[in-house]
Amino acid sequence: MSVHDFAEAQALLAAGGTLQRHAHQMRLALPADVYDNREFLPFAAGATPPVPWDDVLPSFEAAYPPGHPDHMPGGAALIDSYLVPYTAGAQLGPLICHASALAVRDGHVYGGILIVDRPDEGPWVCAVWRDPRPEFAGAGVALLRWAAARLDGFDAIGLVVTICNEAALRAYERAGFTIESTAWTVRLPSTQAQS
Ligand SMILES: CC(C)(COP(=O)(O)OP(=O)(O)OC[C@H]1O[C@@H](n2cnc3c(N)ncnc32)[C@H](O)[C@@H]1OP(=O)(O)O)[C@@H](O)C(=O)NCCC(=O)NCCS
Repeated sequence: MSVHDFAEAQALLAAGGTLQRHAHQMRLALPADVYDNREFLPFAAGATPPVPWDDVLPSFEAAYPPGHPDHMPGGAALIDSYLVPYTAGAQLGPLICHASALAVRDGHVYGGILIVDRPDEGPWVCAVWRDPRPEFAGAGVALLRWAAARLDGFDAIGLVVTICNEAALRAYERAGFTIESTAWTVRLPSTQAQS
């Protein structure tokens, strides 16, 4: 379960719960300044990626290596277990195709951003990543600015960031997001016993 109160979280942990995620929810008010970038290729209707998923995987895996707080093991299977279901809208909500993009330079996919329309929250950063090599520094913030600039008609865009993901937290703050609330997701002992 998720709680937003520190004392409540402490009580659940003292009762034997296991902390699964400690995260900030952040939000950026819209409209945002105009921002364009020819290397950012939007998704087509039907959540069709502008380049094949196989070309996307290397930067995605490099951005979430073992030891990253949001590391997802799986290799090539991540295409079917994560990238396709999230872009197809099966998880959080439908992809906002014109505000979601892959960053491509000289045929190399060096980053991406997936924005979905959550029924309960509105536009939401489902994923943003970049190739960790220094020549691509700043691409994450650029993708966030690009996406925000394309969300005409919406009041705000939100996201959740794991607190120990300090690079992402800094990037979101640079892009203008501010912390709205903090949540502790705790697995309760009874749930642990069942799983
Ligand atoms: C989150 C993420 C997309 C942000 O990307 P980013 O905007 O490129 O920001 P990064 O912090 O990685 O790198 C930018 C660094 O380069 C610097 N930088 C910014 N713009 C730059 C530019 N145009 N040229 C050179 N350097 C630049 C910044 O000062 C920053 O350094 P600092 O954090 O020490 O101040 C990226 O860190 C990432 O892919 N992380 C792994 C995946 C992830 O955690 N995603 C978020 C899940 S919630």
